[in-house]
Amino acid sequence: MNKSDILKAAKWRQAIKQFDPTRKINDDDFNFILEIARISPTSNGIEPWNAIVVQNADLRQKLIKVAPGGTSQLNTASHVVILTTKRASQLKPGSDYIKHMSRDVHDHPAVQFAAWKQVYRVFLSSMLGVLKNDDLLEAHAQRQAYIVLGNMMLAAAEIGIDSSPMEGFYSKKFDKTLAEAGVLDPTTDRSTVMVAFGYRPSDTATTKTRPSEKLKKLVFDYDGDHKTRRSLDEIVKTV
Ligand SMILES: Cc1cc2nc3c(=O)[nH]c(=O)nc-3n(C[C@H](O)[C@H](O)[C@H](O)COP(=O)(O)O)c2cc1C
Repeated sequence: MNKSDILKAAKWRQAIKQFDPTRKINDDDFNFILEIARISPTSNGIEPWNAIVVQNADLRQKLIKVAPGGTSQLNTASHVVILTTKRASQLKPGSDYIKHMSRDVHDHPAVQFAAWKQVYRVFLSSMLGVLKNDDLLEAHAQRQAYIVLGNMMLAAAEIGIDSSPMEGFYSKKFDKTLAEAGVLDPTTDRSTVMVAFGYRPSDTATTKTRPSEKLKKLVFDYDGDHKTRRSLDEIVKTV
């Protein structure tokens, strides 16, 4: 792996609002992005997320009505993925979902399940302090989805595929729409974040080249090349 290629992909990536609607991602490439999602790390390995890939045009139109932050992406993207996360009932140590992860995915024998469940319980209660608060418990699961999201977007960029992350939807109405379409059970899962994939039109203005120097100065001091980000000095503390 080459550092400069990864950096080039990360710099090329930008949140594309309008995709070229005529270009579709081939199955091999899309499956690569999904595989990257699948193998992403999650806390305790419980993988509290799922993906709904929305290719149905009618459903996309219904979602647009409750997702003002994703109108142009839902209209033009090749693929749209909704990352959903588990509800609190599913995340509790004794739930069927947790049993499933231990027994069926991690292949724990029954005796090991008991120990694993106990470690998980202590982690959620004493360490994170989220076990008794459903909102906090669900927020912890949601954080795992953002790791998946980031991995997918970077991997896509590395193979020249554009993406657009989106949280701009009314979550209750959004979930109701997905439930009516039969793809989400809101008692066990909730939408967390959406991401569209596709290709930018060749004439897409990049965030790195604002049209006029004057405009740059007037609106904000944007000098391109991702320098609108905080500096590493601000983000990273080394002890
Ligand atoms: C978690 C998350 C949610 C976002 N939600 C939306 C959204 O709903 N609609 C939208 O147009 N852009 C959305 N964005 C895109 C951001 O506005 C964009 O990433 C940011 O302005 C930085 O620009 P860049 O990604 O092109 O570098 C979201 C980004 C992230 C990371």
